[in-house]
Amino acid sequence: MRIPDQKIDEIRSSSDIVDVISAVVRLKKRGKSYIGLCPFHQEKTPSFTVSAEKQMFHCFGCAKGGNVFTFVMEIEHVSFVEAVRSLAERAGIVLTTESGQSQKQTEFEELFAACKFAAQHFYKNLDTPDGPVGKSALEYFHSRGFSDATINSFGLGYSKNSWDGLLTAAQQEGIPVAHLVKAGLVRARDDGSGHYDYFRGRAMFPIFSATGRVIAFGARKMREDDPIQGKYINSPETPVYNKSRVLFGLFQSKEAIRAEETALMVEGYADLISLFQAGVQNVVASSGTALTEEQVKLVGKYARTIVLVYDADSAGSQAAVRGLDIALEQGLDVHIASLPPGHDPDSFVRKQGAKEFRTLVEQAVSFIDFKAGMFAARGRFATPEGKTEAVRSIVQSIAKINDELKRNFFVKAVADKYQIYESVLYRELERWVARDKPPIRGSSFQDRRAAAGTSQAPSAVSLPTAEREILRIVCENRTALINEIFSAISVDDLSDARVRKLVQIVLERIENTGSVDSTALVNELEDPDLKSVYTDVMLSRYDLSKGWQEMEVEIEEPDPAKIAKAAVAAIKRKALRTEIEQNHNLMSAAKQRGEETRPFIERHQELSRTLRNLESVNSKSEIQNPKQENQNPKF
Ligand code: UTP
Ligand code: MN
Repeated sequence: MRIPDQKIDEIRSSSDIVDVISAVVRLKKRGKSYIGLCPFHQEKTPSFTVSAEKQMFHCFGCAKGGNVFTFVMEIEHVSFVEAVRSLAERAGIVLTTESGQSQKQTEFEELFAACKFAAQHFYKNLDTPDGPVGKSALEYFHSRGFSDATINSFGLGYSKNSWDGLLTAAQQEGIPVAHLVKAGLVRARDDGSGHYDYFRGRAMFPIFSATGRVIAFGARKMREDDPIQGKYINSPETPVYNKSRVLFGLFQSKEAIRAEETALMVEGYADLISLFQAGVQNVVASSGTALTEEQVKLVGKYARTIVLVYDADSAGSQAAVRGLDIALEQGLDVHIASLPPGHDPDSFVRKQGAKEFRTLVEQAVSFIDFKAGMFAARGRFATPEGKTEAVRSIVQSIAKINDELKRNFFVKAVADKYQIYESVLYRELERWVARDKPPIRGSSFQDRRAAAGTSQAPSAVSLPTAEREILRIVCENRTALINEIFSAISVDDLSDARVRKLVQIVLERIENTGSVDSTALVNELEDPDLKSVYTDVMLSRYDLSKGWQEMEVEIEEPDPAKIAKAAVAAIKRKALRTEIEQNHNLMSAAKQRGEETRPFIERHQELSRTLRNLESVNSKSEIQNPKQENQNPKF
């Protein structure tokens, strides 16, 4: 969906960045800005800065930065449009769909609308006691121990035992049958005589996307001896629902997962809901399918560690083994918690309580011990062949890990545990690593996490001081100074490609529209490098030194005109020095070839003279360290 620029501006100006970020980060006022611990990387001293005045944020530790939209995109892992939408909702601004939107977005919106309507409809049916079931879904959920608050927060409902309960209600609401069909909610009759509801007489579990849209349903029969179809039936795959990319409960649990950096993985809808209700909230459910790579990637956005909670039966362990390798491959730490025989997480937590369940999670074993345990349980450790097989299987899992250092650590653990020479294990490991992924070295866990957009931070922004100052002046719309600067130097004299690009963008903008809206500009910088340089420059202060920050002192900004002059001089000097060096090289080459060197000598003298002049003129207006320039801070 294309949202008009005007609308975006309206939403931006009604979404105060300090308010929005405060919901996630504890911010403290520091002078004109706010600081807090960066939500995007691990840190102990705050370098995450938010400016109410500029409506931007920047982390001086990990270099992430942007405006309020960027923040929502990064923290919620959503697209720009989703971020705009979510802020619009927060600000109570209605986003009307307009004709310019793309076909695909329109289709998505139609399906979201159909699913949302269905979820509301099912919710309203909660206390309808009809059909062969004889009791309402509300009673059924209560009998499973779900509280009303839980039923409400998971949006549980009931599909009436009729062929057209949803169909009729949706049509009355003006929802086209075609949308219901596409969303997997109704089906066409084989004889072409109309349509019928897909879900009938079932307890309904809406499946939410990570951003909170209903995209599908799981539907459970309410009487164990109900002969019709399976225990659960689920929505078919639709354009908005790809079951291998969805984790049930993630929308409700993502904050808890982020906070604990650990996600518990269970199999069933009821498992997740019972745990969540019991207070174990960092949990997602794979909904009975084998864990997929996409699901692991999804949860990897929020967690570093994943604990697979599986039934003790052999099907459970098989599923755990598959999930384990995928999680290792994605750079997550994996532990496996086994439930006592006969229990699933739902029954366990209801019988034993959250505390016992947490103990079980704390006792989760590493993948090495889990695999070893599996082989041991089959008596495989009794023979050398069996032991070889077990160790090989463990090494195969180690080979999935991309981080060499981590692999070494696990090799050592296996060597110690099974009294095997490390060298033997390494030889075995090399076989599997080579087979699995050719480039084993150089791509570390850190790299992968960074590439996956997770919490490991890139280094902070480093820029030549003079270029940083010029960029700041440009971004601050100081037209007179800008003219002065670029009559003295050209954009190409700037050595940092990111600065050059940004200056070009801003100058172009100023030329076309007379000025630049620095907060709006952040939206248009798609390259994350540019974005981070931009917010760094916009938010870095002259008083960034820790001492000043800690004293909560606001320092007067140095004179921009002076800074501009000094920066221009510095850039000119740098350019001159480069030219002198190049000239020198040319001269040496000419000399070697036995050619005339006179022109180079003259050029050298001329360049040196210019450089000297520049140095004497500007020696007094060098960019000063703010501490020296501002001896008397204002309190
Ligand atoms: P389980 O059979 O373990 O069911 O399936 P459960 O979650 O414990 O269900 P309750 O407690 O009896 O209500 C685990 C998951 O597998 C999927 C569902 O997502 C279920 O939650 N499943 C199971 C199906 O999709 N269809 C089925 O027929 C059974
Ligand atoms: Mn169960």
